[in-house]
Amino acid sequence: MKRGANIIMVKKAIIPAAGLGTRFLPASKAMPKEMLPIIDKPTIQLIVEEAVDSGIEDILIITSRGKGIMEDHFDKSPELERALEIRHEKKALDIIKEVSTSANIHYIRQREPKGLGDAVLYGKSFIGNEPFAVLVGDDVVDSKTPCTRQLIDMFEKYNATILGCQVVDRQNISKYASVDGVYVKENLYRVKGLIEKPSAKEATSNQAVLGKYIITPTIFEILERINPGVGGEIQLTDALGELARVEEVYAYNFKGRRYDIGSKQGYLEAIVEYALKREDLRDDFKRYLSKIIDSDLYKGN
Ligand code: G1P
Repeated sequence: MKRGANIIMVKKAIIPAAGLGTRFLPASKAMPKEMLPIIDKPTIQLIVEEAVDSGIEDILIITSRGKGIMEDHFDKSPELERALEIRHEKKALDIIKEVSTSANIHYIRQREPKGLGDAVLYGKSFIGNEPFAVLVGDDVVDSKTPCTRQLIDMFEKYNATILGCQVVDRQNISKYASVDGVYVKENLYRVKGLIEKPSAKEATSNQAVLGKYIITPTIFEILERINPGVGGEIQLTDALGELARVEEVYAYNFKGRRYDIGSKQGYLEAIVEYALKREDLRDDFKRYLSKIIDSDLYKGN
């Protein structure tokens, strides 16, 4: 464990990216959904960048059969680099060089799709006895301070597991884990319990766990013996609920615009808003959007 002035540093992250991506068929049939781009950047790269910008040095991506292209993406591309050098395309060259050098990325395959908890358990020997971050591939957050950094800052204060949360509409809580918590201070709750994918009636609050976590290594002992939960899968949420009975676990409402890019609506919102945030695209795209929205063609008549 790395320590600086008694603070345990979070330096490793697990990115589970083994899911089947059934919500994006047929696009995700032969191509991992994590490679779907937000304009010109695969979503998995946005997640890796968030981890790196938060101070993470080593990343383990949990993949599965047919997802080898993610490894190619983060590998060096000598032929492409040479071609860009010859053409003096410095900007493009810098972009692709950065992709392959920004972090130490490791890969392991989940043998069967047995759930998020099972995927995280594949990271046990990579993590060892350190606290670590988990960044789920479907959740992209745009924020001034990277979302995982906000959670690490909380971890450094409380030295305990921190779940990245935001309040969602009641009708959407069934997509997530809901938090049963006790108010500690603004945006911070001590977790008493968690329910994975509750119905609107079962949900203990509208506070949803949104795919970002800092977790202590005690979780692995729990994941090793926990029974399958919702959907017959080993649920990380169930293990975190158990962890909350033996250690302190906090739910932190992070700041930032979060996109559920695992859903079509969320994916479209991300593309449109990222385009509007980009200086090189903004003006033309804005003009185009206002023209198209007023056009009779798209009014459903
Ligand atoms: C997973 C977790 C769930 C969490 C969600 C956030 O669900 O199991 O607890 O709220 O990520 O995106 P999934 O989206 O894989 O169904």
